[in-house]
Amino acid sequence: MKRRVYLDYSSTTPVDERVVAAMLPFLTNKFGNASSVHSFGQEARAAVDRARAQVADVINARPNDIVFLSGGTEANNLAVRGVCEMNEARGRHIITSAIEHSAVREVCDAMERHAWTVTRLPVYNNGIVRLEDVRAALRPDTVLITVMLANNEIGTLQPIEEIGAFVRETRAGGHRHLWLHTDAVQAVGRMNIDVENLGCDLLSMSGHKLYAPKGVGGLYVRRGVRLARQNIGGHQERERRGGTESVAGIVAFGAAAELARTELDARITHLLLLRNRFEAEVVRLIPDVIFNGDRKHRLPHLSNISFDGIEGDGLLINLDLNGIAVSTGSACASGSIEPSHVLRALGLTDQLARAAIRFSLGKDTTDEDVDYVLEVLPRAVKSLRDMSPTYQKRLSHAVI
Ligand SMILES: Cc1ncc(COP(=O)(O)O)c(C=O)c1O
Repeated sequence: MKRRVYLDYSSTTPVDERVVAAMLPFLTNKFGNASSVHSFGQEARAAVDRARAQVADVINARPNDIVFLSGGTEANNLAVRGVCEMNEARGRHIITSAIEHSAVREVCDAMERHAWTVTRLPVYNNGIVRLEDVRAALRPDTVLITVMLANNEIGTLQPIEEIGAFVRETRAGGHRHLWLHTDAVQAVGRMNIDVENLGCDLLSMSGHKLYAPKGVGGLYVRRGVRLARQNIGGHQERERRGGTESVAGIVAFGAAAELARTELDARITHLLLLRNRFEAEVVRLIPDVIFNGDRKHRLPHLSNISFDGIEGDGLLINLDLNGIAVSTGSACASGSIEPSHVLRALGLTDQLARAAIRFSLGKDTTDEDVDYVLEVLPRAVKSLRDMSPTYQKRLSHAVI
């Protein structure tokens, strides 16, 4: 059988079998509706409460500050729209970064069509926003700063702690209607997160990025932050998110969060060892590669690399034929012919942006997986470059 290696953990992760074991009873004999008064309902309610505490623990929050919903996209929608709509009498200005996931970016675009103003902060060539730009962008009518904790395409970490301190200071100075949201969908389970240190008011999470199933997520909402409801009807989640809870999904999310917390250090060590070896070997084996995004301030599991002279899509297909799964840009953007907005924001040419591949490793990635990729990748890159007239032309110029 052909070997299969999955290096697309930033897109999604398999459900951990311990997580499957935890959730299974809630699909079968413990099937109650968490809003029902009878014992079936109480059983489900207790399980949801336990999961709430587990998810809160992974970001050092209080259980009551966690709202369960369908995933990262919904969390971002509820955070951005919820804060903006609740505060529009106080101001109509949002500050965000140029490299947000579409679930924040397109919500901000939509707000702009409703007479809001949006400032998109640059990220320079390292993929990181600067506090001085946040400071300069602040206006008396700013109600929300939404900047992601870790980017999904290049893995860079944003200075949320610094921005959080700035927001607190600004609020203390009298600008009371200013809130900080961070999309931590890629970060939870891959780095230590403490909402108190970050100083954020809202933080988005998604189960399927941390070995829970797809279709469940959470939004941390600091006590005192009021959100305009986004779905009317249904009073679940203390009026913040109507709709019958996905009890099995929530139980799974809780179990996965607990595993992420207890295994975090071991996972990070494992990922760093593999990722750093992978990168060192890529540099040794393949000429003309460019690493995208800051090499230091980034998640431990991800490498975004442009292979000069090739089309990323061609390389993705070639690797897939060899059983290796990677990604170009973000999963949601693939299929579009536009180069990634993230890579463009770094100042990459369209050619280099299209030549980029995201390799994202997971807790189950092995040394042998990396060895196999290192065996296939140089050959694949070489064969595509041999067929690339522009690359060949550049090579011949270089020799002359
Ligand atoms: C940074 C980021 N935010 C939000 C999302 C959306 O999460 P979900 O797939 O749970 O809707 C993703 C998923 O790729 C992501 O990477």
